[in-house]
Amino acid sequence: MNPTEFDRLIHTQANQALSVPSTPAYVYSEAALRALSQQAALIAERAGCELLYTLKACALVPVLETLSSHIHGFAASSVFEARIADSVRRSGQSLHCYSPAYSPDDIESTLALADYMSLNSTFQFDVASALNSGATSLGLRLNPELSFVSDPRYDPSRPGSKLGVLLSGLEKIVRMPDGLEGVHIHNNCESNDLSQLAQSSEALSDTLKRIDNLRWVNLGGGYYLGPEMDTSPLEQVVGRLRSDYGVKVFIEPGTALVQQAGFLVTEALDVFPDDGTDIVVLDTSTSHMPEVFEYQYTPAVSRPEADEGNPTRLAGRTCLAGDIFGDYDFQDPVRTGERIAIVDAG
Ligand SMILES: Cc1ncc(COP(=O)(O)O)c(C=O)c1O
Repeated sequence: MNPTEFDRLIHTQANQALSVPSTPAYVYSEAALRALSQQAALIAERAGCELLYTLKACALVPVLETLSSHIHGFAASSVFEARIADSVRRSGQSLHCYSPAYSPDDIESTLALADYMSLNSTFQFDVASALNSGATSLGLRLNPELSFVSDPRYDPSRPGSKLGVLLSGLEKIVRMPDGLEGVHIHNNCESNDLSQLAQSSEALSDTLKRIDNLRWVNLGGGYYLGPEMDTSPLEQVVGRLRSDYGVKVFIEPGTALVQQAGFLVTEALDVFPDDGTDIVVLDTSTSHMPEVFEYQYTPAVSRPEADEGNPTRLAGRTCLAGDIFGDYDFQDPVRTGERIAIVDAG
């Protein structure tokens, strides 16, 4: 599917979502999920790596079942996610687990399900290693100490990060932990530039050479995998890892497979003017999209906007004054009773 066909599909799906029987409704498009996962699977296949889906982006079972046809496995970041993924995975699909910290009980429960488990520190690795029967391949999450994300709240490599063992710290360890078979990185967020992944992978090379029984490298998520992307850096990275170390390589996107397939469909309950702006109170709330409130970003919506359009504020119906989706310049004014889809809500 080329980028134009893809945009057309998402647009059609958003319009179809508007006809749900009642609102507010959180709607996933099966067609969009299939298109997104097929596209990512194509990229992974061309690069020679396995495609996992990371549940933290959306863990709804019907969504996982739809994605399941095009992926090699699932990545879970808690015991709960691991149980959900285990309940939907098909034969041959692997389960990969990682969390910034597990209790000893969580480690036991996770080891019982996971094919691959990445630990966030050498201490956690040693606990998992002592409890592992040998059925789970253990790895360490490493922090390549390369920041690509301007907002430190999203930057896994921010100074003082809790995420992964610092490469510079690992260099000081004389011997790598016994039983270490894998390396996991994830240091980007919503990036379109896979050359950043190439830089991160390059930063690992001295460390990878020191691991005697290296079997796999998980390159994490954090990248969109749209049809317009230059995927050659991924192909080079995977090719080099496979030829230099003979390892299996995984990528584990979340957002890329679901974000554009989800729509929050709402209805305008009331519209009234305030100082030149139409205030539209919707039958939903930003509580269903916490990132909108916490990070103050304005989500895209299904209505056409225009340069000199009608200034409109879309607000949620709760008593919180800041329950606001955003300010828009719509081509036409919103009418009471009209339905609006918040797009990219998956
Ligand atoms: C370890 C890990 N892997 C994968 C992902 C998925 O990232 P994204 O949804 O940006 O692709 C995340 C997201 O936070 C993550 O922390």
